[in-house]
Amino acid sequence: MKLYRAKDYKDMSRKAANIISAQVIMKPNCVLGLATGSTPIGTYEQLVEWYKKGDLDFAEVKTANLDEYKGLPRDNEQSYYYFMNSHLFSHVNIDPANTHIPDGMEPDAEKECSHYEEVLAGLGGVDLQLLGLGHNGHIGFNEPDEEFDKLTHCVNLTESTIEANKRFFEKEEDVPRQAYTMGIKTIMRAKKILLIVSGADKADILYQSLCGPITPHVPASILQLHNDVTVVADEAALAKFAK
Ligand code: GLP
Repeated sequence: MKLYRAKDYKDMSRKAANIISAQVIMKPNCVLGLATGSTPIGTYEQLVEWYKKGDLDFAEVKTANLDEYKGLPRDNEQSYYYFMNSHLFSHVNIDPANTHIPDGMEPDAEKECSHYEEVLAGLGGVDLQLLGLGHNGHIGFNEPDEEFDKLTHCVNLTESTIEANKRFFEKEEDVPRQAYTMGIKTIMRAKKILLIVSGADKADILYQSLCGPITPHVPASILQLHNDVTVVADEAALAKFAK
C-alpha cells in the first residue's frame, strides 16, 4: 500500500487527479471505476481543467460507477447519474455509451445487480477504482456487515449513512433507504485502487481502516489485502498517523 500525504483538500484532489491522468495516458481505453460523494468533487474538477487545457483525452475511456440510490430517477439532482454528469461527464469528451452506473429505477434488484456484474465483466474489469471513505468505513455503499464477499447487491443504508447524506436532500424523508452498490468482492477485483480521504472527521475511520483489524465491521479494512492500493489523504485525515 502506498500512502501519499497531501497538505489539504486541494492538494489531495490534485494528487488523485494526477494518478488518474497517468492511468488514462498509459492506457487510453482504460476502465475507470468512479465514486461519488463530496470527496472526489475536487479531483473531477482538476481532471476537467486538464482536459480543457488539452492535456487529457477521454475519447476511449470507459467508466463504471460504484453505486446508485434505488428509486431515484436519473434527472433527480441527488442521483449519482446526475452527479457524474454535472461533475465530470458533461465537461469532457467521454462517450456517454461508455459510462456505466447501476440503474436505480430498475425495481428488480436481482436483475439489476446481476446485469451490472455482466456489464463489468464485458468491460474486462476495472483498471483503476477510485474510492471515498464513509464515516463508518463504508466503501461504495458497502455498510458494516458480518461478511465481506458480496458482488453487486442491493443494500439497506444505515442510519449513520442516511444522517450523513441528508445534507444533500431537502428533508431526511427524501433520502433513499436503499442503494445498488458494487460489492466488496467486485471492488477487490479492480487491478488498482485509489482511496482518497479528507478531513479531521475521517481521521479515526481512516486509521482503523488501514491499521486496524481486517473486519467486515470496517468494510474499508479489506483494502489491506489488495495488492495495489494507493491512498491519498490530507493532513487532517492523517492526524492519527505518525509523520
Ligand atoms: C457516500 C458514497 C460513497 C462515498 C461516501 C463518503 O455515501 N456512497 O461512495 O465514498 O459516502 O462520502 P463523502 O465523500 O461525501 O464523505
